Amino acid sequence: MVWIAGDRVTLRAWEREDVRARWEADQTADAETQRLRDWHEPPRSLLRREQEWEAEQSEPDASVVSLVIVAGERPVGDINLFQIDQRNRHALAGLSLWRAEDRDHGYGTDAMRAMLRWAFDHLNLHRVELAVDATNERAIHVYEKLGFVPEGRRRQHHYDNGEYHDELTMAVLDHEFRARDRRAEAVAGSPAGA
Ligand SMILES: CC(C)(COP(=O)(O)OP(=O)(O)OC[C@H]1O[C@@H](n2cnc3c(N)ncnc32)[C@H](O)[C@@H]1OP(=O)(O)O)[C@@H](O)C(=O)NCCC(=O)NCCS
Repeated sequence: MVWIAGDRVTLRAWEREDVRARWEADQTADAETQRLRDWHEPPRSLLRREQEWEAEQSEPDASVVSLVIVAGERPVGDINLFQIDQRNRHALAGLSLWRAEDRDHGYGTDAMRAMLRWAFDHLNLHRVELAVDATNERAIHVYEKLGFVPEGRRRQHHYDNGEYHDELTMAVLDHEFRARDRRAEAVAGSPAGA
């Protein structure tokens, strides 16, 4: 499979140009993006990012699937499955749209829906889990819409900008997602379109 199709976006493998596109987006990141990015990593040079990308190409990690989200012709973000465990059939997910202006257009929901369909229907996973800043209301709303339920709260888990933040862990099981997904398709395809 060369790409995974959503309704508004396509998920495809990273190419070298995408490394630069993401790095360029990082250079003009708004405060929210800076804060969320900083959870994961300090600032990195383009050279370092390209070296990391090259290392991943030459020695791929079988427990990771990392894809670029494309809207129209443009790479707008990335979506990832980590720690894929084929025996217990679970994985962790991560999702990010790189630029503030690409948020709230339905891309994130569509990308995660497409990734979950693929994870459950093709990769044969049973459960997908993620962690999210407990104050990230937009992300939590998107995940709940797709069937994720909160399972726990790691209190004061991240130190950021001079204060600790709680982190929510959320997960969705294959049958929970499919029940929601069927409903979403039925609503989208209904004559009223409601
Ligand atoms: C979180 C993120 C992936 C969501 O993707 P997106 O494309 O912006 O989201 P969508 O447009 O698909 O959906 C946004 C939904 O949240 C709602 N929303 C927007 N702001 C909100 C807020 N402050 N509180 C609650 N809901 C909010 C929108 O109304 C919409 O809901 P609806 O579809 O039911 O109307 C994206 O905004 C992003 O990358 N943000 C920065 C990085 C990040 O937070 N990553 C997640 C880390 S776990």
